Amino acid sequence: MKRIAILASGSGSNAEKIINYFENNELIRVDLLLTNNPEAGVIERGRRLGVPILIFDKKSFTKTDRIVEILKKQEIDWVILAGFLWLIPSNLIKAYPDKIINIHPALLPKYGGKGMWGHFVHEAVYENKESESGISIHYVNENYDEGEVVFQAKCEISEGDTPDDIAAKVQVLEHRHFPEVIEKLIMG
Ligand code: GAR
Repeated sequence: MKRIAILASGSGSNAEKIINYFENNELIRVDLLLTNNPEAGVIERGRRLGVPILIFDKKSFTKTDRIVEILKKQEIDWVILAGFLWLIPSNLIKAYPDKIINIHPALLPKYGGKGMWGHFVHEAVYENKESESGISIHYVNENYDEGEVVFQAKCEISEGDTPDDIAAKVQVLEHRHFPEVIEKLIMG
C-alpha cells in the first residue's frame, strides 16, 4: 500500500477528485489532508469524504520538523500539492526526494514562479492574449514551479474567453488528468 498526503490551501476540488479516484484502490490510498488555511474549502470536503485533516501554521511548517514527523509517523509515501501556495521547505524536500508532486494551472515554464497561482495565472495568460493554456504536473524542488515537468495538457483559448473561462477550461484538464498521472507516477 502506498499512502498519499495532500496539501491544499483553497477550495480543494482537485483534492476531492484525487480522493474519489483512489477510493477503491487497493494499492494507493489518500490517508491525510493538510492545509495552512483554516478557512479553506478543502476542510469541509475532507470532513465529508472522511479523510483526516490537519491544519498547520507557517511557523510549524517552515521552522520545525513537525510536518515531516507527522507524515513519517503516518507512513506517508507521496506528498501531493493540490492548490498549495507556500514554498516547500528543504526539510520536507529532503524527507521526500522525488516524491512531492505539484499541479500548476499553466504551461510551465511560462506563468510560473512566486505570486503566480490561481486566478493570477489566468489573468496573466489573458492579458498576454495567449492562444492556449493548460496544466503542468511536476516534481517539486526548493524553488516555485521549477521541478521537472512530467506531464502537460493543453486547451485552446478562444477569442472572447475571459480569465474565468480560461480557468474553467484548465480546471477540466486538472480534474481529468491529475489523479491518473499521480497513479502512473506512484506505480512507476
Ligand atoms: C488549481 O487550479 C491549481 O492548479 C492551482 O490552484 C488551484 C486549486 O484549485 N495551483 C496553483 O496555482 C499553484 N501555483 P482547487 O483548490 O479547486 O483544487
